[in-house]
Amino acid sequence: MSDFAGKRYIVTGTASGIGHAVTERLLAAGAHVHSLDRNDPAAAVDQHVTVDLADVDSIDKALTELDGEYDGLLNIAGIPGTAPADTVLAVNSLAVRHLTESLFGQLVEGAAIVVVSSTAGFQWADRLETIKELLATDTYEEGAQWFADHPQEGNAYNFSKEVSNVYVMTMGLAVREMGLRINAVLPGPVETPILTDFEESMGKDTLDGLKELLGRHAAPDDIASAVLFLASDQSRWINGHLLLADGGVSGSVFTGLVPVPEI
Ligand SMILES: NC(=O)c1ccc[n+]([C@@H]2O[C@H](COP(=O)([O-])OP(=O)(O)OC[C@H]3O[C@@H](n4cnc5c(N)ncnc54)[C@H](O)[C@@H]3O)[C@@H](O)[C@H]2O)c1
Repeated sequence: MSDFAGKRYIVTGTASGIGHAVTERLLAAGAHVHSLDRNDPAAAVDQHVTVDLADVDSIDKALTELDGEYDGLLNIAGIPGTAPADTVLAVNSLAVRHLTESLFGQLVEGAAIVVVSSTAGFQWADRLETIKELLATDTYEEGAQWFADHPQEGNAYNFSKEVSNVYVMTMGLAVREMGLRINAVLPGPVETPILTDFEESMGKDTLDGLKELLGRHAAPDDIASAVLFLASDQSRWINGHLLLADGGVSGSVFTGLVPVPEI
């Protein structure tokens, strides 16, 4: 992991779960971590900025505290579908876009942007045109207004992750022109505090069914490995990609071997 020594990463979601696991791995590899979270980070990072990703003014204030250049932006923070729909879209999608695009000028040539999305966004193709309409808005506020004007069917969490998936795919070529890459990791269920909320919003039986198929849920470190791969130069020709990190369930769902989970 010498790839990371001395490099500087902005990481969101450092207070818990996957973001914490990624932070520990980066620090162990000699990288500098600049943390953004509404809670205190769970590891001894180089810098922590308290931010509410559901509030664009809070994000803009946090951005003023991030000085210099960075080798990567790892968008990991997220909230479950038990939160109000507008907050879910704001944190899981609009904040990712706003942070990413605000930081373009501070990312060095070759820097990597990683978004932790979810297999819950697997039905993005069904809503592609709608999602492109949302992404055609220019700002966080306009995106939030679009969502208020266009309520979506189903769980807002799934929609928010569909939006993140489409965002990543549509931005690959655009960021390449700036010498950057953008990719997403799509975990299935992971043993983190958010999982209890998923059991409420997606159904405990469904999540237990996935656990039975695989023998266990993912550990945060399983997902950290995928995030770090996409953050590293090892993935230098991978761009605009959605990397499933779900133990193999999605492949079986897509090919009809197991039924589509009702989430
Ligand atoms: N755990 C799973 O089963 C699972 C599955 C698929 C995808 N994911 C995704 O992984 C990412 C990380 O989730 P996790 O499982 O580590 O959950 P977690 O609850 O352990 O961590 C979420 C982190 O995001 C931060 N956060 C939440 N809202 C915020 C806000 N408004 N402003 C600033 N920070 C905020 C929290 O403080 C926390 O540190 C999320 O994007 C989630 O959607 C998780």
